[in-house]
Amino acid sequence: MAKFEKASSIGEWLDQRIAVETLKKVMQTEYWIPKDINFLWAMGMVLAATFGILIVSGIFLLMYYQPHVDHAFDSVNYLIMTEVGYGWLWRHIHGVGASLVFLIIYIHMFTGIYYGSYKRGRELIWISGMLLFVLFSAEAFSGYMLPWGQMSYWAGMVITNLFSGGSLEAYGLVEWIRGDYVPAQAFLTRFFMLHVFLMPLMIIGAIVFHFGTLRIPHVNNQEGEDFDYAEAAELYKAGKVKESKVIPFSPVFLSKDVFVMGVYFVLFFYLVFYNFSFAMDPVNFDPANGLSTPAHIYPEWYFLWSYEILRPFSKDIGLILFAISQVIFFTLPFLDRSPNVAPASRRGLFKYWFWILLVDCLILTFMGKLPPTDPTFASIGLVSAVIFFALWIALPIITKLEKKL
Ligand code: HEM
Repeated sequence: MAKFEKASSIGEWLDQRIAVETLKKVMQTEYWIPKDINFLWAMGMVLAATFGILIVSGIFLLMYYQPHVDHAFDSVNYLIMTEVGYGWLWRHIHGVGASLVFLIIYIHMFTGIYYGSYKRGRELIWISGMLLFVLFSAEAFSGYMLPWGQMSYWAGMVITNLFSGGSLEAYGLVEWIRGDYVPAQAFLTRFFMLHVFLMPLMIIGAIVFHFGTLRIPHVNNQEGEDFDYAEAAELYKAGKVKESKVIPFSPVFLSKDVFVMGVYFVLFFYLVFYNFSFAMDPVNFDPANGLSTPAHIYPEWYFLWSYEILRPFSKDIGLILFAISQVIFFTLPFLDRSPNVAPASRRGLFKYWFWILLVDCLILTFMGKLPPTDPTFASIGLVSAVIFFALWIALPIITKLEKKL
């Protein structure tokens, strides 16, 4: 057993028992961050902060929400919004947070793609990030069911119907998922469980894993320069170089993160107080009615690109393509065959690949919101879906041909 001297401070007492000083060094003061990074590298902490806010606001909502098909709608739209003191504020915060978290996730993902931050030892950072993306999608979808409005009900119906295609029908998969023939009480109860318990638990685990995968390879830098960050810090400390190429995560880099978060939260609370409706579908302010199908069913904006990928195809093929479109991003570190870690602007055909992918996803998003009845929009949607897959097929070929920088 270690020798325990009388401690002169709480810090020392804790250090003797759980090595807080070592932890502080590993996670903060000697966790080296390159100087050459821009505000986009603050998005990870912005995401962590938004997730924290979603948890806190969710806990307040949970105190009054009733997961029952006869009471869920009123408990949200009447009880929480009008009767409970500041209930509206927590709901606005939760709704805006749920929408913005996806905007930031997409910015964070495309930043990673642009700078090649998924390569050379950073593969697990990317994979754990993608796991977070899938978990957040499940969290958002299950949460969307809870107010039991028209769009909750019908989006639940349409998405679970995907599992009734082809031979899946014979296995009764869709009834198994719903716990009934149509979305009803069993459906609401299990989505409630997923939203408030299982998914948040898994997200917390995945965030810890994501942070863990970052510690050894460290974050990338704007030029994709490969150097030993700890060695760079030592060189500076020893006076061998005039300017250090790295800074400690805390307090130096963290202060930049906090500044970016400040700007972000101005936008966040502007939306909470003045433009809350942007995060809400007007159709969902009508209670769920299984006998009246809305004229046009669509998901929240952040699912529109993948919804548009499945929409032009038959149920079976649509489900398969939808699944591939989600999973394909996981394979990015392995499909990109080029050894170059550099911003896309400096990389051969990859720079066009990146921008085409981004614009294609935006077009899919816009088309996903429009009714499929217009043949022009339906064709644009179909072509964009085909381009999406063509891009992924082309990726290993164009990156294999890329010259070494
Ligand atoms: C709640 C979700 C997430 C949280 C809290 C989170 C947090 C972070 C943090 C704090 C960093 C380091 C600083 C930075 O680059 O921003 C980071 C880096 C990274 N994250 Fe995430 N992240 C999340 C989701 C994702 C997703 C969905 C992806 C995409 C697949 C992803 C991929 C990456 C990559 C590739 C890096 C390394 C960036 C680099 O080396 O330059 N993350 N993440």
